[in-house]
Amino acid sequence: MKVRSRLLPALARREYPTVLELVGRTPIVRLDRLSREVPGQLLAKLEYLNPGGSVKDRIGLAMIEAAEQAGKLRPGGTIVEPTSGNTGVGLVIAAALRGYRCIFVMPDKMSQEKISMLRAYGAEVVITPTAVDPHSPESYYSVSDRLAEEIPGGYKPDQYSNPSNPETHYETTGPELWEQTDGDIDAIVISVGTGGTITGVGRYFKERKPDVRIVGVDPEGSIFTADERHPTGPYLVEGIGKECWPDTLDADVVDEWVRVSDRDSFRVARRLAREEGLLVGGSTGTTAHAGIELAKRLGSDARVLMFFPDSGRSYLSKFYDDNWMIQYGLLERTTPPPAVEAVLRFRRVGHDVPDLVTVGSHEKVGSAIDTMQRYGISQLPVVRNEPVDSLADVVGSLHERALLDRVFRNPDALNEDVAVAMQPPLPAVDADASVVEVYEGLSGTNGAVVVATAGKPTGILTRSDLLEFLAAQRSQVQS
Ligand SMILES: Cc1ncc(COP(=O)(O)O)c(C=O)c1O
Repeated sequence: MKVRSRLLPALARREYPTVLELVGRTPIVRLDRLSREVPGQLLAKLEYLNPGGSVKDRIGLAMIEAAEQAGKLRPGGTIVEPTSGNTGVGLVIAAALRGYRCIFVMPDKMSQEKISMLRAYGAEVVITPTAVDPHSPESYYSVSDRLAEEIPGGYKPDQYSNPSNPETHYETTGPELWEQTDGDIDAIVISVGTGGTITGVGRYFKERKPDVRIVGVDPEGSIFTADERHPTGPYLVEGIGKECWPDTLDADVVDEWVRVSDRDSFRVARRLAREEGLLVGGSTGTTAHAGIELAKRLGSDARVLMFFPDSGRSYLSKFYDDNWMIQYGLLERTTPPPAVEAVLRFRRVGHDVPDLVTVGSHEKVGSAIDTMQRYGISQLPVVRNEPVDSLADVVGSLHERALLDRVFRNPDALNEDVAVAMQPPLPAVDADASVVEVYEGLSGTNGAVVVATAGKPTGILTRSDLLEFLAAQRSQVQS
């Protein structure tokens, strides 16, 4: 089968000494499908095609070399860095080739994929709480400070204050972009974390083409675009936004700031994967949403260049997962949540416990315990009549834990009437109710609910029943 020629441009014989020589020179692609919505042309620089998967590969080596030249990092040393993950990869690739140990300190909001990736490169990862003040001893800033001090030969590059960060983008990313476009772009849109990318690229372009529009993009809740109506607060998108202004950001190069919500960030990132075939990270969605809105305001000959910092492979368990999006209220459930009846139906498979097991209020506690053991259940509705025709017949409930306390303190309680030992009835739900409603009923102290069909008790549903059902649903979705 003849492979189409344009897929195989002539390749000069070239072997690279290390993977580090592959950092940078990332390609620019036209986004022709998304550009249909704007008068001009949308362009993307795919920084996620760097060997480590993000724009941060560029600063990893640079910060290490600067530290070596300054004598701050010596052979056998240990690099300690606070990171959302990507700078960690940029550092650990260079460190692997230079024999440095790496310890990365990450807030717990970051994806498991990123944590596993750093460990895969042989780094140690310390997880810290996200929702703490940046100056608190628990923050990833303070923990990395402490570790770098305590460990012999420890060194913290600190991307948030390290001048090599913006310098690298001024010396490599800026010139690269200028060369690739001959400066023929009208706006450059960049999402901001340390501000290193926008500062370096912005300065380089402002020196050569002052009228190029440099647009800084910020997640809603971050300090760069906070104001009275938009105070700082938590947000889900990773790698961008801050609680304080970093030294590595020169805000003077930024002509305009755009604030973007998590919902728009993730919606546009998912569109890029499905409409342009680009599996990108959340901050790329943030950037592209701002880029599209900007391009709508600019003329038909405007060329808007957006930086796409990292890959979607680090977020498959997050915004690319519909259940995760639904859980965070960022996506409407397309299929209605399953009903209680479906959980009961599921439980019947492989379980020979009757749907509804009850005990009469005049039975003895001892025989109630026998019933519980016979069916392996830990709570029982107490009824005044059998058969049970309506919820009104359910007058109480027995719970294993409370029964144990009672019998432990007074063994004679075994001979008491259930009516004496019982507790208030379990909450009742309708068999047509959705599992979402039941979840609320089960998340309190009650480990079970009575299920009624047309007002007639027909089953008991426990927390573990719902858990088993949801786990089975999940494995069905994943299979
Ligand atoms: C995913 C992602 N996007 C954007 C950025 C922002 O880049 P900069 O720190 O150069 O502002 C980062 C920085 O860590 C990042 O990890």
